[in-house]
This record gives sequence, C-alpha cells and structure tokens, in this order.
Amino acid sequence: MAESMKGLKRTARCAEITKANVGEKVTLMGWTAKSRNKGGIVFVDLRDRSGIMQVIFDSSKVDAETFEKAGRIRSEFVLAVTGVVSLRSGAVNTNLKTGELEIMAESLRILSESETPPFPVEDGIKTNEELRLRYRYLDLRRPELQKNLILRNRISQTIRYFLDREGFLEIETPCLIKSTPEGARDYLVPSRVHPGSFYALPQSPQIFKQLLMCSGYDRYFQMARCFRDEDLRADRQPEFTQVDMELSYVDIDDVIDVNTRLLKAVLDSMTDIYNDLGFDQGLADGVAKAAAKIGEEGIERMTWHEAMDSYGSDKPDLRFGLKIQDVSEAVASCGFSVFENAVKDGLKVRGLNLKGMGGMPRKRIDKLTETAKLYGAKGMAYLAIQEDGTVKSSFAKFLTEEGLEALKNAMAAENGDLLVFVADKLKVVRAALGAIRLEMGEEMGLIDHNEFKFVWITEFPLLEWSDEENRFQAMHHPFTMPMEEDWANIDSDPGSVRAEAYDIVLNGCEIGGGSIRIHRNDIQSKMLEVLGFTPERAESQFGFLLTAFKYGVPPHAGLAYGLDRLVMLLTGAQSIREVIAFPKVKDASDLMSNAPDVVDEVQLTDLGIAVVAPEEKGAEA
Ligand code: AMO
Ligand code: AMP
Repeated sequence: MAESMKGLKRTARCAEITKANVGEKVTLMGWTAKSRNKGGIVFVDLRDRSGIMQVIFDSSKVDAETFEKAGRIRSEFVLAVTGVVSLRSGAVNTNLKTGELEIMAESLRILSESETPPFPVEDGIKTNEELRLRYRYLDLRRPELQKNLILRNRISQTIRYFLDREGFLEIETPCLIKSTPEGARDYLVPSRVHPGSFYALPQSPQIFKQLLMCSGYDRYFQMARCFRDEDLRADRQPEFTQVDMELSYVDIDDVIDVNTRLLKAVLDSMTDIYNDLGFDQGLADGVAKAAAKIGEEGIERMTWHEAMDSYGSDKPDLRFGLKIQDVSEAVASCGFSVFENAVKDGLKVRGLNLKGMGGMPRKRIDKLTETAKLYGAKGMAYLAIQEDGTVKSSFAKFLTEEGLEALKNAMAAENGDLLVFVADKLKVVRAALGAIRLEMGEEMGLIDHNEFKFVWITEFPLLEWSDEENRFQAMHHPFTMPMEEDWANIDSDPGSVRAEAYDIVLNGCEIGGGSIRIHRNDIQSKMLEVLGFTPERAESQFGFLLTAFKYGVPPHAGLAYGLDRLVMLLTGAQSIREVIAFPKVKDASDLMSNAPDVVDEVQLTDLGIAVVAPEEKGAEA
C-alpha cells in the first residue's frame, strides 16, 4: 500500500550527506537499490540521482510496525526514510561516496511499490540494449546513464554561459519549415490547412540563422533539434542536437578563435564533475591535459588535402601516427606490372608501414585485404619483412632488386615490418588505406583511449562529384564561400576550387562543421548554376534567402557542433544512444513508445492523406 508524503520534507539527496552531518536527523527519499533482511536488522541501499546511502532498520530501535514494513521492502520501492546520520558500524565500503556512513532509521514510509523490474537497475548489466530501450525509464535510473546526462547538462550550461558572455544571443528558429538544403532526406509533416502541402523538419537551422544575420542580430546561437532521415550509425540519430551559431563580420580565424576558447571552457568545466560523478580517472586526466594543451597552443589546423593524403580521412584520428606514404615514384619502374601500370595510368600507389607486424599470419593479412576491397580497392599487395631480413610477399617475386630496395627505402622499412600497398584511383587509395590505418591503429595498441586530440580541418573542396547524380554537389551546402584565389577556376576545373569551410574533429569523429557564407549575389548565382539549380528551383526552394540578400547582407560565417557526439566522446561512451535520454534504434523507431505508428483513419482524412500499403506499393513498382 503506497503511503502519502504529506507532512514530510526531503532534507537532502542520499549522497549529499557527508561525515560533517553525523548526528543530524535527515529525511531521504529514493528508490530501493537493494534490501537485505539479516534477522533483527534490515539493510536498505537507498538510491537517488546523487548516489546511494545505506539505511539500517534495527528491530531493537524501531517500533514493530516499522520493522515489519521494512521487511516488505523490495527492489525499486520508493521510500521516505527519516533517521540519524551515523558512522558505519560494519565494514566501510570504499566504492561508495557515502561508504563510511549509514542512516539509523527511525521511521519509514513506502511511497510507491514496484513490480520486479525486467532487469537489475544497476551499472555493468549485460541486459541487451533492446530490452533496456523498451524500459528506458528504468534504464535511465541506472547511475551510468544518469551521470552521462548530468555531464551533458554541464556541457550545455557551460556553452550557454560562454556564448552569452561572448555576445551571442540565443534565438529559436522554427521546426515546421520549408526543406533545407543540407543534403540528407527530410522528415515531412503534412499540412491540414493546405492539403497536399508539407512542412519539412529542419535538417539544421542554416537558412534561418543566415537570415538572423541579415536582420542585424550579429551573433546568434541555439541548442537546435535537427532531423535527418538517413541511415543510422553509432554516432548518428535521426533527431539530434546541434549547438548552432552564426556571426557577422568575421573571418575564419575569428570563428576558430572563439570556438577554440569555447572548447577549452567546456573541457575546463569537466574537472570537478568528473570527480563528483565518479568518472574514470584516466578520462578526467586526459581531458584536463587536452584543456591545458589548448590553453598553451590552441588547436592544430590541417588542410583537407593533408588529412586525406596522410590519414585517408577528412576526420583523422591523430591520437596515433601510422601515416599513409606515397610510393608512386619509387615503384614507377619496380618490375611489378600492377604498380607500374597504375603509375602510367595516372593512378596512385600508396602504402602503410605496419611497424613490427612482419610476423602477421597470412589469414589476418587476407582480412586486411578484405577491408581494402570493402572500400573499392581491387587488391592489397603486402611485403612482410621477417626479422632475418627475408621477405614474404604477394608481389616481391615480380620486383627487381633495385625495385625492392627503392620501395623499402620509400617506406623507411626495417626488419620485422609489414608493408601494405594499394594501387588505384586517389579516392579509393585514400579510403582503403585510411580504413586499414584505423583498424591496425586499434589492433597494434597505438591508441591511447584517454587522449583527446582536436584538429581543425580547413580548405575543404567546394564541390564533390556525385557519380549517382552525374554532377557536382556542394560538399558543405550551397551557401559556402569559395576561396577567392581558386574562384577563377570554377568553370575550367570546378573540382579544384577550395571552400572557406572548416570542421572540428576530435579523436577521429567530426564534432562540428561550418563555413564562411556567400554574401555576394554574383558568387551565389554562379554557385547555384554550377550545382545545377535552375533559377526557378532556387527561387522556389530558398528564394526568400536570396531576396533577403538584396536588402543589405553583412559578411557572415557560422558553425554547428553535434552536441550528442561531443558528449559521447567526453563521457567515454561507445554510442550516441548512451548520452541521449530517449534515443531511437537503427531502423529509426522508438522501442519504448513504439513510434512511428499507424494513426487514426480520421486523422488521415483530416490531412487528405491516403496510405498505400507497402505490398501495394511493391506491386506498383
Ligand atoms: P553539418 O551537417 O556538418 O553542418 O552538421 C553539424 C554537426 O552535426 C553533427 N551531426 C549529427 N549528429 C548526430 N546525428 C546525426 N545524424 C548528425 N548529423 C550531423 C555532426 C556535424 O559535424 N548547417 C551546417 C553547419 C553550418 O554550416 O553552420 C550543418 O548542419 O557533429
Ligand atoms: P596478381 O599478379 O594480380 O596476382 O597480384 C599480385 C598481388 O597484387 C596480389 O596480392 C594482389 O592482391 C595485389 N594487387 C592486385 N591489384 C592491386 C591493386 N590495385 N593494388 C594493390 N595491390 C594489388
């Protein structure tokens, strides 16, 4: 029977009580993490978001009715306990913040009873994620998730405070909008008032924040919900949160400066919360070290070309080296026709020196080849140099003696090294070797998981060729400013034009990106032409932005962070779902509420929508 809390006030949270409170009478309220009946004594671990406190019901100290009630307590019952803070009479629990303390209960109310939960509400459970997500409200009670969300709150508050002090105004933009050109698929919302017409949910507030610059707000930010109908991965959700910002009258250095200081402020604000919440000490030390480094040196910058050439990725993980090396010159006449022909055909031959891995079993090498093929490579050639200097190789038999030496020299190879090579189009070579680099970086133990390595990637290409669409697409979005020195080549060699765009990358994860925007009509029109927009289509999609630009537009720039990703990395979580209260699974559904779901026929009629059953759709196709 649940009791009322009338007349009772909670005086503290469980783990807010310290030794300084010994002797005081307190009232705690929370869930039962554990209860054990040891004859004359009932021990209860009471849990709230601050942590756990042990409560003792001693039959010689409480009345019979209270003791009987204490005996009925089960896991997840919600209790109100009044008692005296005491030093533990039994063994001290060094794993608990309150491990030296206990509450000598005087009275008890059972505020709510609980059925047996479908999984234990505690850390380190092996329960599968599906079940956890179906009962997410129970899952969220677990300290592991609570501390992630508490840390997330700290990050949001730090960002708000910092940006406010830097003169950014927090302004909300609408969620029911016209489609934004971010490049993913839109979520659409049907209009009842305008049958057959749809709103789109924003993929980002991009156009609105540019309009706010046109309206003179100078510096804007927003914690913006964004919606993208794309394939999900560990670091992607269909709805996610951006820390979105836009600034007037700035250049790249200004944007990078304020954001570098913002990131340092975020890292600095972690110090005490890591300790309070009991995060891993290595993580706390790593973040403190990164903050100090940013304070001294800022954040490293790297051009997109350098990132792609050395690391095979525009989001390089710089916690380890293992750079890709170009051997095209060294193999031009090495004797191996695959390499020689590749060079003749203008392709690239590049490789990785997997130091000390010369003894890798053939089976494992074959698996690396599979990785290379996954990224489009036709093969992967390897040269395993044994400790005694002999080689095992898929192609050494074709090499001339000089060819072998030149190749080893180019790769700075030593006995015991494993050299792997891919010959192909630049794009394929980068992708294949980039993937092998990441796989081997992990396997060779080159990654310090407590290190936090930030890097700004700059000078992205403006355009990206789409084989599917057979035309150029904007790499960032159509409002990104081209680099002045390249703009003259927009007709002769569009692919070579670089953009005033930048990404911020942390440990191989893109945590944010942005650009200087086009504020000149001539450049914008040309850009839209290159992207294949007819003036009519541009007008219908974002004519209001182009029109706004006719009335005086300040030069402006901006950036957006993926807040979920930043929090994921700073909590050490493996998946973005661990830092989002109510996430969706791979097929974009919510296992708890069962969304998306069918709706009432009446609702559909109101909207003028008829649903074609999937089978019928298949039959039509
Ligand atoms: P962009 O598309 O690069 O830029 O998005 C900015 C950042 O948002 C995060 N992000 C995501 N996080 C979780 N799930 C997703 N599906 C997802 N998609 C993106 C990434 C990314 O770096 N309007 C521009 C920004 C600008 O130019 O100011 C934009 O949205 O961390
Ligand atoms: P082959 O002479 O075709 O048997 O190839 C000899 C070795 O070269 C095999 O290990 C192939 O996997 C490898 N190889 C073939 N094509 C490529 C390529 N494009 N890049 C790198 N290695 C390749």
